[in-house]
Amino acid sequence: MCGIVAYLGKERAAPILIDGLKALEYRGYDSAGIAVLEKDGVFLERAVGKVAVLEDKVAKRGESEGSVGIAHTRWATHGGVTERNAHPHRACGGAIYLVHNGIIENYKEIKSELKSKGHEFLSETDTETIAHLIEDIRKDVSVLEEAVRLALGKVRGTYGIAVVSEDEPEKIVAARNFSPLILGVGKNEFIIASDATPIMKFTNNVIYINDGEIVTVTPSGYRIRTIGNEEISRDPEVLDLEIGIVDKGNYPHFLLKEIDSEPDAVRDATRGRLEIGSGNAKLGGIERVEDEIVQVNRLHICACGTAYLAGAVGEYMIEEYAGVPVELDLGSEFRYRKPIFEENDIFLAISQSGETADTLASLREAKEKNVLTLGVVNVVGSTVSRETDAGVYQHAGPEISVASSKAFVSQVAIMALLTLFMGRRRGMSLVTGERIAKELSAVPAFMESILRRKEEMKKIAARYASYTNFLFLGRKYNYPIALEGALKLKEISYIHAEGYASGEMKHGPIAMIDENFPSVVIAPQDSVYEKNISNIQEIKARRGPVLAIATEGDKDIAKLADDVFYIPKTLEMLTPLLSVVPLHLFAYYIAASKGLDVDKPRNLAKSVTVE
Ligand code: F6R
Repeated sequence: MCGIVAYLGKERAAPILIDGLKALEYRGYDSAGIAVLEKDGVFLERAVGKVAVLEDKVAKRGESEGSVGIAHTRWATHGGVTERNAHPHRACGGAIYLVHNGIIENYKEIKSELKSKGHEFLSETDTETIAHLIEDIRKDVSVLEEAVRLALGKVRGTYGIAVVSEDEPEKIVAARNFSPLILGVGKNEFIIASDATPIMKFTNNVIYINDGEIVTVTPSGYRIRTIGNEEISRDPEVLDLEIGIVDKGNYPHFLLKEIDSEPDAVRDATRGRLEIGSGNAKLGGIERVEDEIVQVNRLHICACGTAYLAGAVGEYMIEEYAGVPVELDLGSEFRYRKPIFEENDIFLAISQSGETADTLASLREAKEKNVLTLGVVNVVGSTVSRETDAGVYQHAGPEISVASSKAFVSQVAIMALLTLFMGRRRGMSLVTGERIAKELSAVPAFMESILRRKEEMKKIAARYASYTNFLFLGRKYNYPIALEGALKLKEISYIHAEGYASGEMKHGPIAMIDENFPSVVIAPQDSVYEKNISNIQEIKARRGPVLAIATEGDKDIAKLADDVFYIPKTLEMLTPLLSVVPLHLFAYYIAASKGLDVDKPRNLAKSVTVE
């Protein structure tokens, strides 16, 4: 989704901004641009396509010397993917340049009013309206940050913005409402960005800008005010991230690197938290509200996409082993239905980025109802992590590929930890707790044994790559994994895939089965094994090709399925952590064999900060 970088310091801004945009590329975008304040005018360049195209254009035009500038990667919402619609946008008077993430809901009204005053618009975007609005206000209010403040008072919608003006060349004004913005405070320099990745190279001193706040940076420092004109005093905090992690190394794609690091993601999620001897989990981030958690009446889990599927696995675990009723919701639905909260209900948001608009809106809805809110979040300092009452960090490291992989297994591992944490405080026996904890500690090594057989899955994937439709089936704990397998395949290979609960096949999807419609059936030897075997038989009776994900040693299944990929035996509730690994590999190898941009699938964005 859209990305913002802005720089004010002593160095040439253009290369820093381009580098910053490259660091944001993983979020997904379709065009990019920069504007740098020069001694005599503004260096503005925009390009459709990759940041490399923009970089090329900037290089061809020659040196840009200025040391203050703003830059943007755009993910089209209002208006097509054209250079004219790419940011930065300029007001017609020529002095003001602006970049924007988010959506301005009342831009049509503002635009028509400004047009009637003579403003001429060059793009189809909602963003351009804010630039003209600031310009209009500046006829009466000369100070840029004050004009921005008054303009934002008229705007309805979501935004992260950064603004510069030719007539105040040593200043950047940035503001946030529902779209993340971070200020990096270096030595005599500032870098503002929509996520931490462009800032990490410069400094680890950061300030998170909150909704409704405006930050102004000049060579002499930064100043934060609210849109209501209240002064805010906030010191930088230390951002805890390693730069080296955001590197593909020798891997052809980040996705393969991230799938390969799934065992580490589970290790890092459980390190120091799993207490095998007492069959328990130590979760420092939620201990403060332990009493409320023990007394929970119902847990409302809310998330989107892959994170929602991690929540779906959690629903099975927590209900079966902790005895806590769970209600699972998609963020996009929760915020619009009228959820009923009872006494002692708890809300739990799961989000890798911690910035997903629908999850965030649902969290705020829950907060309004005075419910205790918890979060399972990967990005440290993200909005969900800051707005929940308590939570558990995933510690999975930055996930760069748009399609989530290591973050998913890390979330599922945390669901298992939560199950122990709640279960052991609500009557789960020591023996059961110990068994779960011990088996969970063995999962990373099991995952590694699967990943050592990557080539085997690559060969299987090659046999299935030419099919155009897939059915993914799983039951109980592996039903969410069937959905995840289908989601991953469709999002990175653009092949139609449907995930279904195995038992639902006979209620519809079986009509599609023939020799050209393969099924991937997750059928480990668990409590629903026999039922999955019946489903495979039904598919084979209709000549449908079957790839089974099965438990090591299960020779019978090989007689039925066309292909089998084996996974080690583990506790039923933990099989999702193993069965998902071959499915992630399957999707990866099919997409890679088609030469697709695996890490940045078309139309997708890493963190979906608009509704
Ligand atoms: C799919 C994928 C998305 C995200 C979803 C939620 O591979 O990555 O479905 O899981 O957009 O994102 P977060 O977890 O950042 O809230």
